[in-house]
Amino acid sequence: MGFLIPFVFLVSLAHLSVSSTIPSTTDVSSSSLSESATNSIKMQYLEFANGDKIPMIGLGTWRAPDEEVEAAINLALEIGYRHFDCAPVYMNEKVIGNVFKKWIDSGKVKRSDLFIVTKLPPFANRAEDAEKVLKKSLADLQLDYLDLYLIHVPFAVPYVEGPFQTHENGSIVQSPTDHIKTWKELERLKTEGLIKHLGVSNFNERQIQRLLDNSDVKPEALQVELHVYFQQKPLVKFCKDNNIIVTAYSPLGSRGINKLLEGSGIEVPDLLENPVVKTVAEKHGKSPAQVLLRYITQMGVTTIPKSTNENRLKANIDIFGFELDGCDMKSLSDQDAGIRLVEFRNFDFFKGIETHPEYPF
Ligand SMILES: NC(=O)c1ccc[n+]([C@@H]2O[C@H](COP(=O)([O-])OP(=O)(O)OC[C@H]3O[C@@H](n4cnc5c(N)ncnc54)[C@H](OP(=O)(O)O)[C@@H]3O)[C@@H](O)[C@H]2O)c1
Repeated sequence: MGFLIPFVFLVSLAHLSVSSTIPSTTDVSSSSLSESATNSIKMQYLEFANGDKIPMIGLGTWRAPDEEVEAAINLALEIGYRHFDCAPVYMNEKVIGNVFKKWIDSGKVKRSDLFIVTKLPPFANRAEDAEKVLKKSLADLQLDYLDLYLIHVPFAVPYVEGPFQTHENGSIVQSPTDHIKTWKELERLKTEGLIKHLGVSNFNERQIQRLLDNSDVKPEALQVELHVYFQQKPLVKFCKDNNIIVTAYSPLGSRGINKLLEGSGIEVPDLLENPVVKTVAEKHGKSPAQVLLRYITQMGVTTIPKSTNENRLKANIDIFGFELDGCDMKSLSDQDAGIRLVEFRNFDFFKGIETHPEYPF
């Protein structure tokens, strides 16, 4: 099985965030952002160098199975989500694409109002496989272009259309990868108009620097695990210094990840039960999850909490109506504990991957 089944500070001043009001529910049909919309939620954005904007809250879609994801994407669009994080290895792009198509065809939303992200999977992390896999994502998502395309992980495995290949002892079969060659191919696909912005995910500083040193189109985005127990401050600063927008994945601690770690002996702490988070939440009359997400956005980092539950979808995007003060920020900053939760080597389906020469952690 692959990660197929289960998988699935401050940015520079050039990325000043701006506020806008997203019309929700029925107002979404007007598709334009309206200050006068009633029943509305606020959104903040970061800007790429060319002025394109990425909403600071998006929706994650890992471990959102087909039977839940269709309703969740519909609901999310109604609520006002416009930024969606996808990946072929989450195995739900087709269903998500059906919902995008319905919304765009009906005129309820314009394509240009959406910010759609997907990723080049580890089984195609090579120049020769990139085009077909990108085009498959575009076909599944029923889109002509992606707003952001990320190399999902720095390591690679052989091309498969099903579960990853394993050796007899259960360890994963690896394959070499050359980031520079792959990147050049992505640059070419960008010139064809299939991609607006290019970035990477799960790359370390050295791997990003190598791309910066050897590319015409510089990486503009990095998606990494980031939450109150794993704040990645040096990496975020490095990105800020290089005009790279950071997106935090697993911002709520990837609740439910315990199931994937069964047998590994690793226990995942519950971020929502952290006493400091709870105290700050009580002070502002917000939920612990809202405080965790607000903290990340006040670090100047965009984030993509996953939910398929209506109330949690609503709460997770409704975080720009309050602000954490210096005291809150300091006490939350102090919770940083270096606890990485999405450590690929601990997942059964990536057994032995830490010996890959490009393993990042
Ligand atoms: N690039 C990568 O390698 C990578 C790796 C991991 C994740 N990601 C992306 O990042 C997204 C988010 O990360 P994640 O899914 O690992 O974890 P997460 O967003 O931190 O946590 C999601 C879990 O929290 C629950 N939840 C959501 N909102 C909640 C709330 N307000 N209160 C309590 N529980 C809540 C969800 O359950 P319900 O659905 O039942 O609400 C789900 O079980 C992924 O979906 C994926 O798109 C990328």
